[in-house]
Amino acid sequence: MQRDLIPVDRFTLPVIQAIGTRWMLLTAGTFAPGQFNCMTVSWGGLGVIWNKPMALVVVRPSRHTFTFMEAAESFTLSIFPPEYRDALTLCGTRSGRSVDKVKETGLTPVASTQVSAPAFEEAELVLECRKMYSDDIDPKRFLANHIEANYNGRDYHRLYMAEILAVFGTPAYRA
Ligand SMILES: Cc1cc2nc3c(=O)[nH]c(=O)nc-3n(C[C@H](O)[C@H](O)[C@H](O)COP(=O)(O)O)c2cc1C
Repeated sequence: MQRDLIPVDRFTLPVIQAIGTRWMLLTAGTFAPGQFNCMTVSWGGLGVIWNKPMALVVVRPSRHTFTFMEAAESFTLSIFPPEYRDALTLCGTRSGRSVDKVKETGLTPVASTQVSAPAFEEAELVLECRKMYSDDIDPKRFLANHIEANYNGRDYHRLYMAEILAVFGTPAYRA
């Protein structure tokens, strides 16, 4: 897929639709066989914090990807064309502990430019992100009763805020 560098102030994305409906692939680790893992995410956000363009993701400690997120300084977020929906479903329902997601999906890891985590050839948008902050979701701070239903009293997400160092995308992502 032809992707070009998009200045972050020209980057445009219907965020809620893109993350919540189209989903993203979160990849952490380094670009070498067995040294990274990816998983589908549909919760998260994009915005500005500390005057930096930021991506927010939440990862449950039970995920194999969590280990990579903790060890790595960076990660990538990728959005794919609709025909890769099955690949995203696999990456969101199987664990890298038991399957080789690259082999199963046929996706092609490629090196990123600013971070160690790989991106994917087939993606139409790649965000290269460097971790800036992490914190654990604290049920004592829930301000609405329905939130706890996502947790069964355990496996509260870890929130990661990360600076977006580079945006590569197709022309549709350039304002
Ligand atoms: C559409 C979709 C969205 C998901 N979003 C998240 C998310 O935001 N955070 C999370 O921790 N898990 C999320 N998951 C679950 C993980 O992707 C799933 O548990 C995955 O198998 C973890 O793989 P891993 O063990 O290789 O890390 C989502 C799954 C799907 C199908």
